[in-house]
Amino acid sequence: MPFGHTNDSMVTEFVLVGLPVSWEMNIFLFCFFSSFFMGIVLGNLFIVFTVILDPHLHSPMYFLLANLSLLDLGLSATAVPRMIADVLSTHRIILFPSCMTQIFFIHVMGGTEMVLLIAMAFDRYTAICKPLHYLTIMNHKTCICFVVAAWVIGIVHAVSQFIFLINMPFCGSNKIDSFYCDFPQVTKLACVDTHVVDNVVTASSGLISMGTFFLLIISYIFILVTVRHHSSVGLSKAFSTLSAHITVVFLYFTPCFFVYVWPFPTLSLDKFLIILDFVVTPVLNPAIYTFRNKEMKVAMKRLSRKIVASC
Ligand SMILES: *[C@@H]1O[C@H](CO)[C@@H](O)[C@H](O)[C@H]1NC(C)=O
Repeated sequence: MPFGHTNDSMVTEFVLVGLPVSWEMNIFLFCFFSSFFMGIVLGNLFIVFTVILDPHLHSPMYFLLANLSLLDLGLSATAVPRMIADVLSTHRIILFPSCMTQIFFIHVMGGTEMVLLIAMAFDRYTAICKPLHYLTIMNHKTCICFVVAAWVIGIVHAVSQFIFLINMPFCGSNKIDSFYCDFPQVTKLACVDTHVVDNVVTASSGLISMGTFFLLIISYIFILVTVRHHSSVGLSKAFSTLSAHITVVFLYFTPCFFVYVWPFPTLSLDKFLIILDFVVTPVLNPAIYTFRNKEMKVAMKRLSRKIVASC
């Protein structure tokens, strides 16, 4: 057992060696990570509070949006503060339990977020393609079911991979070629045959991310086809909204593809790509779901006026 064992050769901490060594690059990364992280925290919290405090927004679409914001916030909070601290230090050590905790929460929240994205696409599909049945299909109960199902699937997804990892012995090198802990880089360091866990990770993470990717793309195609049938004026508006969504979907899922599915070594490309998922898409999600949405903009103005008035 890796825990409670006092063998000297057992790894009790890892060193994250993925960050660059040049200090100019580190200063740049520090500024980049901190400003994006501030944007992630402020933007997503603002959405959550707007949805909770404004009764006009108490509908499934906005509840799902607020849930997505919380998950975006949680996902980047598991990785980014640590990355910010590490770029400024030369002592990039992460203890074994922290590393395991980070892997676990990244997969719980990443998995949950993916199911939630499907729920949001389904919500938009229903609103646009089945407008007459929208209120009966997307009622409050369906919405709660989606949120609960998202968390259950996220947790099952994370646990299913984690049970293989937690019993693995680590006794050799403890240098992780990345700036956070995740499966492929960490299992590479185990001193047993890891191809079972590697296959489980590819199956579970690959299935959930690529499955979500294709479902989202298919739902966008359905929406476009429906809109095209109904009007040509709506098409350009729908197209501009959907193209923003599709761009974010590609930004979000490309790193997942290279980290979990692509079977060949990628020249440490994936460790930079993953910055998209922790730092960039958590800012873009609130932006595309919120600032392109009139109702939400009005609600935010109302909320800011209230905040200003009460100061
Ligand atoms: C998340 O979704 C559920 C289900 O609709 C809702 O009750 C809850 O208020 C949402 N969470 C937030 C922070 O809005």
